[in-house]
Amino acid sequence: MNIIVTGGAGFIGGNFCHFMVNTYPDDTIICIDKLTYAGNLETLAPIMDKPNFKFYKTDICDREGIYKIFEDEKPDVVINFAAESHVDRSITNPEIFLETNIIGTSVMLDACRKYGIKRYHQVSTDEVYGDLPLDRPDLFFTEETPIHTSSPYSSSKASADLLVMAYMRTYGLPCTISRCSNNYGPYHFPEKLIPLIIANALNDKTIPVYGKGENVRDWLFVIDHCRAIDLIVRKGKEGEVYNIGGHNEKTNLEVVKTVLSALGKSEDLITYVTDRPGHDMRYAIDPTKIHNELGWLPETRFEDGIKQTIDWYLNNKEWWEHIISGEYQNYYEKQYGNR
Ligand code: NAD
Ligand code: TYD
Repeated sequence: MNIIVTGGAGFIGGNFCHFMVNTYPDDTIICIDKLTYAGNLETLAPIMDKPNFKFYKTDICDREGIYKIFEDEKPDVVINFAAESHVDRSITNPEIFLETNIIGTSVMLDACRKYGIKRYHQVSTDEVYGDLPLDRPDLFFTEETPIHTSSPYSSSKASADLLVMAYMRTYGLPCTISRCSNNYGPYHFPEKLIPLIIANALNDKTIPVYGKGENVRDWLFVIDHCRAIDLIVRKGKEGEVYNIGGHNEKTNLEVVKTVLSALGKSEDLITYVTDRPGHDMRYAIDPTKIHNELGWLPETRFEDGIKQTIDWYLNNKEWWEHIISGEYQNYYEKQYGNR
């Protein structure tokens, strides 16, 4: 099969490309990425020269460019990871989120209609369901939970999901959607919570915790997410939405303390800063559907995954030090300077 993966120079898309290229030598993985601040060719370096991997530096909003790739590569499957993905950036500058996450998705869907594909898969997020209250641990997001977004990021992702559903119903495009909880693992950009804690702690910099650090996220090791997407694309039913998550809820403070303790760093590094506007309280996925229908279960326990992740950051300092020394430095100053 020829499989287009957009956003493959980012965190999850990059891990997914590694996984696919190494697991399926007979499939060709065609990565399309604009290489925004979040895209990094160093993430793809280990697979760049593999015979079953190709890379195009193209914006998914560039209709002509995308159509040309479809003409040349004749994909059977398209998996759309490409997105602006950071909630805090969406609060300061929503527009680029609307462009990439909505317009970009519509261009990919149009290309699929025009050239014909066996499956289009949209990588979505549990954030489209909004949040759950902290005092109702019995509540979880199911695929039936209404869309109810909080941030410009989640609104743009929800809009993309609605477009995918419209293309399924109106044009009969064979699509699936997955909505996953927070991922962690290697190649995670150090503006997101877990890699930010690791990088700051290793540099003895303070760890900014928003509000009281009570917000809960449901953490999943990135390779478990990759396996789930692969399974959905190969065995999932057309037209269906699948939630992905591993019942692994932690408060932000618990995560910060776990990482600091693993690194032998003092909790004195923790600094409470002004809360994120509209900050979602709790995310928690009910993964019953993907378990019952496709037999998926997470394989990595948080204690093991976080250790693997920390070891990766310790052994791959160059990867994240290059990032931290670039444009990201200006962002960090703006984001945390006056908080
Ligand atoms: P990321 O920000 O690390 O990577 C995004 C990638 O998309 C980058 O390589 C970037 O260069 C590329 N990109 C951005 N705009 C583009 C454009 N216009 N054209 C082509 N490429 C473009 O994001 P991530 O954390 O890897 O997330 C990947 C997907 O998974 C996103 O759709 C996100 O919404 C979803 N998701 C993420 C999480 C998470 O915890 N990170 C959880 C659930 C779902
Ligand atoms: P993040 O990694 O940005 O993912 P998301 O907002 O998509 O869940 O943040 C995870 C949680 O950590 C979220 O509740 C916000 C919080 N957070 C901090 O407390 N400090 C930080 O510096 C960052 C980046 C996030």
